[in-house]
Amino acid sequence: MKRKKNVLVLLGSPRKNGNSALLAEQIAKGARSEGASVTTVFLHGMNIAPCRSCYACQGPGSEGCAVDDEMQDLYPKMIEADAWVIASPVYWFTMSAQTKLWMDRSFAFPAYAEDPFSNKRIAIAMSYGGEDPFDSGCVNALRTFQDAFRYVGSRIVGFVYGSAMKAGEIANNTTVMEAAEELGRKLVRD
Ligand SMILES: Cc1cc2nc3c(=O)[nH]c(=O)nc-3n(C[C@H](O)[C@H](O)[C@H](O)COP(=O)(O)O)c2cc1C
Repeated sequence: MKRKKNVLVLLGSPRKNGNSALLAEQIAKGARSEGASVTTVFLHGMNIAPCRSCYACQGPGSEGCAVDDEMQDLYPKMIEADAWVIASPVYWFTMSAQTKLWMDRSFAFPAYAEDPFSNKRIAIAMSYGGEDPFDSGCVNALRTFQDAFRYVGSRIVGFVYGSAMKAGEIANNTTVMEAAEELGRKLVRD
């Protein structure tokens, strides 16, 4: 029997029902339709401090990140998950600060499990107010995700992104909404 896949959705917008969150929910819907179980975390609502660059998390024998905040609850969830969905708005031509905080603190992730990035499957969802991925700056964030996850050996299964300014407006873009659902199915399929 096939093991049920666990998906962790990381919402990087302060708008709980905003555009990137809607895309993430569509990805989650697709994943659930393939039998996956989904856990969603709202990064903006969590106490996550910036990385201090103390390097306590690095090297053999490290006990993990020295910063005692809610990121400590997130590391086990990140380990447990087979796949992550990273959802972010474009802020100032790149990802949101909430998403970047989570990325920086993930520097400590290898202290919590052996080679924990290498088996992760990742889907990225982004929204922007500009006209296209280039003039909005979305490409800068997509490129950062590509470089970072290539570096740590995770597999980006796909990206979905679209233009929308007001919260929820992305729902009118049926092409991207359908692409998001399909990405969710692909994320958890073998
Ligand atoms: C602080 C801030 C910075 C923004 N910077 C950009 C930007 O550089 N490029 C862009 O296209 N849209 C920008 N936007 C618009 C948002 O990306 C857009 O409204 C997006 O759909 C928000 O996603 P959300 O609903 O998931 O929060 C910015 C919005 C805010 C609040």
